[in-house]
Amino acid sequence: MAKLLEGQAAFITGGAQGIGLAVARAMVAEGARVCIADVQQDTETTAATLGADALGLRLDVTDAVATDKAIETAARRFGRIDIAVPNAGILLLKTGTDMTPEEFRRVLDVNLTGAFITTRALGHHMMTDGKGGRIIMTSSLFGIRGGRENAAYSASKFGMIGMMQSFAAELAPHGILVNCVCPGQMDTQMIRQLFRERAQLRGISEAEVAAGLTSRIPVGHLGPMDHLAGTYLYLASDLSRYVTGQSIIVDGGWQVG
Ligand SMILES: NC(=O)c1ccc[n+]([C@@H]2O[C@H](COP(=O)([O-])OP(=O)(O)OC[C@H]3O[C@@H](n4cnc5c(N)ncnc54)[C@H](O)[C@@H]3O)[C@@H](O)[C@H]2O)c1
Repeated sequence: MAKLLEGQAAFITGGAQGIGLAVARAMVAEGARVCIADVQQDTETTAATLGADALGLRLDVTDAVATDKAIETAARRFGRIDIAVPNAGILLLKTGTDMTPEEFRRVLDVNLTGAFITTRALGHHMMTDGKGGRIIMTSSLFGIRGGRENAAYSASKFGMIGMMQSFAAELAPHGILVNCVCPGQMDTQMIRQLFRERAQLRGISEAEVAAGLTSRIPVGHLGPMDHLAGTYLYLASDLSRYVTGQSIIVDGGWQVG
């Protein structure tokens, strides 16, 4: 059977661990060549675990000039880039009244402006290439509803959905489809950070935080990576060729539970 993404190339930010790395693995398994771009020092070494064709580039997504260069490098290596996954993100858990303007700006800079810089650059690349493409941003369930200690993070993820809808409308005539995935509580290092920091903030144990969150997920557990990556594959493939401007929630029923 033909693979879903045979012959395609993907550029994934925040791809050195967690959701980005899981999406990279799933795309490689479906026949794509991938470039992971991440601020982590060992991004190149991580990329090597994805196979000989994979490329790893050290990149801070807030740097527009460096992003243009990274995309140029990946496009030279693969011929073109068909799929963009602006996914790099950071979490800051603090009540809004305790948060400094600098902290708020930093979260917006990485999560929202970073995704803008990646999307803008890859949108240009795909338009120039003229063969269409897919842009799949990682927002969050916190992009649909706010929550305690989440003012900056939520603002960045709500903003991303509005931005995604604008890009979707602008790029559809060029055959470029733009969507968001909104994960709930996925089992990554970011969620471990949330358990740790929320436990400190609320004066309870990490186990209590974890149990409290898990009890609100109807399927009964945090999201395993391979249960999430399929949504990115769907949005990257021909299976979704009439889908654009959408935010798909993948949360084990958390929102309705
Ligand atoms: N884990 C969850 O439950 C969850 C839920 C909803 C949304 N998300 C979102 O999914 C995305 C991935 O999160 P994750 O859970 O895999 O977290 P993670 O912390 O495991 O991975 C995030 C990656 O982004 C990279 N990164 C951070 N700042 C960067 C920068 N300036 N430039 C380039 N790379 C940078 C990190 O080095 C890391 O590899 C994030 O946007 C996050 O907000 C996560």
